Amino acid sequence: MEMLIRWCVAGMLSLFLGYAGAALAFEDDEACLMCHKYPKMGRVTEDGLQKTYYIMPNVFSKTVHRNVPCRDCHSYIKELPHKPVTEGVTCNAECHSIKNPATGKPFSHKPIYDAFKKSVHGREKIAKGNDADKPYCVNCHTNPLYNAKEDKPPKHIIDRCVVCHEDAKFAEKWYNHTSRRIREVKRSSQEIVAMCSSCHADKQMLDRHQQAAKEEGRELGRKFPFAIESYEESFHGKVTKYGNTKAANCLDCHAKTVNYYLSVHELLPSRDPNSPVSAENRVETCKQCHVRADKNYAELDPHPTSKREDNPFKHYAELIYTIVGDSVLLLLVGMAAFETWGRLRDGVSWRFRDGSSWWRRTRRNSNRLP
Ligand code: HEC
Ligand code: HEC
Ligand code: HEC
Ligand code: HEC
Ligand code: HEC
Ligand code: HEC
Ligand code: HEC
Repeated sequence: MEMLIRWCVAGMLSLFLGYAGAALAFEDDEACLMCHKYPKMGRVTEDGLQKTYYIMPNVFSKTVHRNVPCRDCHSYIKELPHKPVTEGVTCNAECHSIKNPATGKPFSHKPIYDAFKKSVHGREKIAKGNDADKPYCVNCHTNPLYNAKEDKPPKHIIDRCVVCHEDAKFAEKWYNHTSRRIREVKRSSQEIVAMCSSCHADKQMLDRHQQAAKEEGRELGRKFPFAIESYEESFHGKVTKYGNTKAANCLDCHAKTVNYYLSVHELLPSRDPNSPVSAENRVETCKQCHVRADKNYAELDPHPTSKREDNPFKHYAELIYTIVGDSVLLLLVGMAAFETWGRLRDGVSWRFRDGSSWWRRTRRNSNRLP
């Protein structure tokens, strides 16, 4: 009964306002919150993961997806009460209720998904085997809040819109939409390194994929097994770690600067000529920051290691330096030890008296020196 009333009220409201579905603020017109409003709602999965099924209406209503009805995303829910859910939300579905005002077509993230699908990380939502190691949209994105720091749009701006548009809600909606997009939402270099490291530093994942690639006769980049540790060795990695924001992070090199927000989704391996780090494009990529970079500069290794299989010259050079350095130290200490031993045998000992020095004593334990 309550649901019926909710549906009716929502229906009447949207009719009244003239926007079915595209209501201005978040409205639970599918009555999902009838159940999902309870904070304790959730369960522990078979693999011990704590899941929360609680939706906070006041938080959801401030997110970028607040105008998307629940079932435009959770489209596998066909009836209420619903069956246990086995599918996930796919981000390439078409919205039923929101049109892209530029094209007039139903809104969708499909263009991003299509680019992503062709990238090194391309996968389906429900992926099996090694594909499940790759990131899906939700691995990198949450449902972001519109202006996290603002509870409400600034009144002096809305007042200015209302003078012509007459409707404060219209103005607030567009203010939120536009002001978030004008703000820089790029992650910081440290956040990007952390994001890529969450997988590319996982030794087991790396081993799994090298093994699979070998079995399938597939190529992987030669830096694949140690991309993170080598980046951390590099100049860029070291200064980024200490907070430098200008040095190259993973995406400065692996994504294109033109159309950055799409390009981060179409990462390609360096062996693909279209990758910004391919042999063909590398000079241009370094040039973005190192204006005078040429072919020689671009040869400098952004993923340096001294592993034998990666850089035998550096490996052996380091080995020789270690051996030489250690031997010199050993000889030095050894000589000092020999000298000390000889002197002690001669009856000379180390004294703290009138400064420190070697004192020669007679066998009878009295000093022969003054
Ligand atoms: C009659 C109560 C009720 C209503 C109404 C309801 N749900 Fe649920 N929902 C549940 C329960 C109970 C669970 C937990 C099921 C389980 O543990 O398998 C759940 C779980 C879920 C899950 C998580 C399932 C999983 O295992 O990952 C999603 C997603 C979900 N609901 C979406 C919705 C959406 C969208 C709507 C509105 C169209 C909705 N629900 C309406 C009761 C409800
Ligand atoms: C923009 C798309 C989108 C909208 C709109 C949306 N959700 Fe979700 N929801 C997701 C995604 C993505 C997940 C994470 C699970 C997944 O990837 O399948 C999720 C997870 C959930 C879960 C927990 C399931 C779990 O596996 O942990 C519940 C419950 C849920 N949503 C209910 C709702 C309700 C109720 C609404 C409407 C108020 C709603 N969702 C609106 C995309 C959406
Ligand atoms: C001086 C009057 C005036 C003010 C002030 C004003 N607008 Fe407008 N706005 C218009 C007019 C007229 C149009 C239609 C313009 C056109 O189509 O070229 C318009 C169009 C728009 C549209 C496009 C609507 C559509 O569906 O095509 C949006 C969105 C919008 N305004 C938002 C705002 C916001 C937000 C503010 C406050 C920051 C604002 N406007 C302030 C007069 C104004
Ligand atoms: C490997 C991580 C990763 C994956 C996977 C990923 N993205 Fe992104 N996405 C990013 C990064 C990085 C940005 C640039 C903005 C930033 O730094 O947050 C971005 C930006 C975006 C933006 C622009 C945001 C804005 O407010 O301007 C959208 C929309 C988007 N991604 C959607 C998607 C969709 C849809 C998918 C799945 C097909 C997806 N992303 C998969 C990392 C990822
Ligand atoms: C959720 C885990 C995950 C995240 C996060 C992730 N990757 Fe990957 N990445 C993978 C997997 C798995 C592969 C596929 C290896 C294969 O082909 O078997 C891969 C492949 C790659 C490759 C191609 C390797 C090759 O030799 O073909 C590059 C380049 C790459 N990732 C860069 C990045 C960058 C840059 C980021 C951060 C923006 C990132 N990845 C974030 C899991 C991840
Ligand atoms: C200064 C530019 C630069 C930066 C910064 C950078 N890379 Fe690379 N990356 C390269 C180049 C160039 C290659 C190809 C090297 C080769 O094969 O000799 C490469 C290779 C790789 C590979 C092996 C697969 C392939 O495409 O050959 C992975 C994986 C990778 N990088 C991930 C990352 C991650 C993750 C980060 C951040 C922690 C990062 N890179 C930072 C330039 C960069
Ligand atoms: C996003 C900008 C950016 C990109 C792209 C970039 N670098 Fe850098 N790189 C920097 C910054 C900033 C420094 C630190 C400069 C300083 O303070 O001396 C640096 C330092 C270096 C250094 C340390 C020595 C020096 O010359 O100062 C090397 C080597 C280097 N980069 C190589 C490369 C190579 C090779 C590429 C292309 C594959 C590349 N970089 C791409 C920003 C970048």
